[in-house]
Amino acid sequence: MDTRYRKTVIAGNWKMNMLPSEVRPYAERLRALAPANRACDIVLCVPHVLIPAAVAAFRDSRNRVFVGAQNLNEHPSGAFTGEVSAAMLADAGATYVIIGHSERRTYFREMDAIVNEKVSAALGAGLRPIICVGETLAQRELGITDDLITLQVKTALSGVPADKMRRIIIAYEPVWAIGTGKTATAEQAEEVCSHIRAVLRSLYGARTARAVTIQYGGSMNGGNAAELLSMPDIDGGLIGGASLTPEKFIEVIAAAGE
Ligand code: PGA
Repeated sequence: MDTRYRKTVIAGNWKMNMLPSEVRPYAERLRALAPANRACDIVLCVPHVLIPAAVAAFRDSRNRVFVGAQNLNEHPSGAFTGEVSAAMLADAGATYVIIGHSERRTYFREMDAIVNEKVSAALGAGLRPIICVGETLAQRELGITDDLITLQVKTALSGVPADKMRRIIIAYEPVWAIGTGKTATAEQAEEVCSHIRAVLRSLYGARTARAVTIQYGGSMNGGNAAELLSMPDIDGGLIGGASLTPEKFIEVIAAAGE
């Protein structure tokens, strides 16, 4: 991470875990454990139905914890039964939203073009998108990681003006490392994160590119976070499994302060 130009952001992704009634005890435990760490911003991306409880529970934490969602619908409103809009999330107090997570791409057939529409909907409502990109093991073995990442980043950001880029986080999440206990080495992760920054530079120029927070995600935990975060282009993490327990999440947050 390079804190001269950009913010370090540690984000938890609870996925489809936790209950509304479990949010307050989690927040209290996290608060009890957390040293006032101003070195990074902390985000928790929770299921939609947990957002109000999370916003209330984290409102007065010493370490400001921002609440995020894990998905949104690209349309502003209307007959889309079961869906949630950007404006609803913002009005409920969410500030971030994960877009294009590999689980959404795989299980819900989300394509790059939809990811792009969601990014634009999120920005329009004042939310900060955390855009996930990443290759499968087969794609890595074919040697097409950089090409694929270029395509994912360029499509996701199509039509996004440079002045909005400070509100966007790109999360590099190799699909083969998610929930598998298999982390990319710090060198592998840095290689792709620096490629992402090069793509941003080609789109927006060096000044804008160096201001964008790029996260690594995929089995990140207290044991590997410090090494990953020591890389120049890795400015934070998107943490699944290890964010479900305050004791484990705090280890990653602490690593960001080292
Ligand atoms: P994991 O998930 O940390 O459990 O691998 C990361 C993610 O999917 O965002």
